[in-house]
Amino acid sequence: MKILVINGPNLNLLGEREPAVYGGDSLQAINDELFTRAKRMGYDMAFFQSSNEGSIIDRLHDSRLDCAGVILNAGAYTHYSYAIRDAIAAINIPVIEVHLSNINNRDEFRKTSVIAPVCRGSIAGFGKISYMLALNALDYLFGEQK
Ligand code: DQA
Repeated sequence: MKILVINGPNLNLLGEREPAVYGGDSLQAINDELFTRAKRMGYDMAFFQSSNEGSIIDRLHDSRLDCAGVILNAGAYTHYSYAIRDAIAAINIPVIEVHLSNINNRDEFRKTSVIAPVCRGSIAGFGKISYMLALNALDYLFGEQK
């Protein structure tokens, strides 16, 4: 079973981007840790990062063909992209919304997630651990299927 990890705009700069908010780990370091954990659990993992809304939508569409689930940090698109929301609703695999920061205790505009209602669940505020928790959540959902 393959799990896809999608990171949206500006997340390629993790480590140097506002480290007080998003932590000091690079996206590569987070992905490496996810990969190691996923492998130990018996999953394949694929990674995709783009700051382009359409590319994220295309990757979500493709994921329905060969992935069992998606871990998605849509970055700022979280707060206003109805197109990404519709792409998630269009595919029949679980998508877990993740955020490094706690989007509920920051700017007002971050408190709205337009994708949350169509995601299987949401995890925010644990820094890079949010991604690890999302992997665990998918593992629980998949149970013995793998
Ligand atoms: C984020 C939170 C978003 O509000 C922000 O635009 C990001 C990162 C997070 O992981 O905390 O780019 O998704």
